[in-house]
Amino acid sequence: MTSHNLPAEPNRFVGRARDVDELRGLLRDQRLVTLCGVGGIGKTRLALRVAGSVVGEFPDGVWLVELGRITSPDLVAHEIATVLGVREERSRPALDGLRVRLRGARALLLLDNCEQVVERCAELVAELLAGCPDLRILLTTREALRIPGELVWRVPRSTCPTRATPTPRPCCCSPTGPWPRAPAWPPATSTTSPGSAWRSTGSRSRSNWPRPARGC
Ligand SMILES: Nc1ncnc2c1ncn2[C@@H]1O[C@H](COP(=O)(O)OP(=O)(O)OP(=O)(O)O)[C@@H](O)[C@H]1O
Ligand SMILES: [Mg+2]
Repeated sequence: MTSHNLPAEPNRFVGRARDVDELRGLLRDQRLVTLCGVGGIGKTRLALRVAGSVVGEFPDGVWLVELGRITSPDLVAHEIATVLGVREERSRPALDGLRVRLRGARALLLLDNCEQVVERCAELVAELLAGCPDLRILLTTREALRIPGELVWRVPRSTCPTRATPTPRPCCCSPTGPWPRAPAWPPATSTTSPGSAWRSTGSRSRSNWPRPARGC
């Protein structure tokens, strides 16, 4: 059985079937897929759902690294090493240990909530992808990494579930939605807005960065 450290979902996952399918497809061809969008739009839930659906495709595991609480860039490699069980040694940089662990591994790393340490994530991800040819990375962030090979997928607002419910209850179109923390939810309109993807230019300079219509 393939390993993973994905948590059980806290409640029912609502909608987004098409987004999950599209992202699963993208992960087959792309080594770095970044889910980008405003806070609370559902990046983490979507990424966890996608990661959970591809566990069988990664014999060396699907590994969630939660970076939302990290504010120091120095701790990013340490967090990844901890999740992967890589022992850190004073004599070698943490990145070297990660490279050794992931070289030849058919694994998926899910780096969640990267926005606070986005610069360091960009460096590390670039190094890991270069040194570990079978590694794939799925990432959530409010700001894209802007490195070569990055496929940025803008997370759209969720659309309403279409299936009728037996008793009236809040759905994602209600003023509050079914979950407490979703400032960017419910959808502003009832129309479906698919996620859009674009390729990073590879420069972290803002001047040549294509801006999405909305979101990150
Ligand atoms: N498809 C969904 N079904 C059910 N609940 C959802 C869904 N998407 C998001 N939620 C809920 O909405 C809240 C916000 O979602 P989430 O944490 O994924 O947003 P986020 O975009 O990652 O936010 P942040 O940028 O703050 O990390 C959470 O409580 C989450 O469980
Ligand atoms: Mg999140």
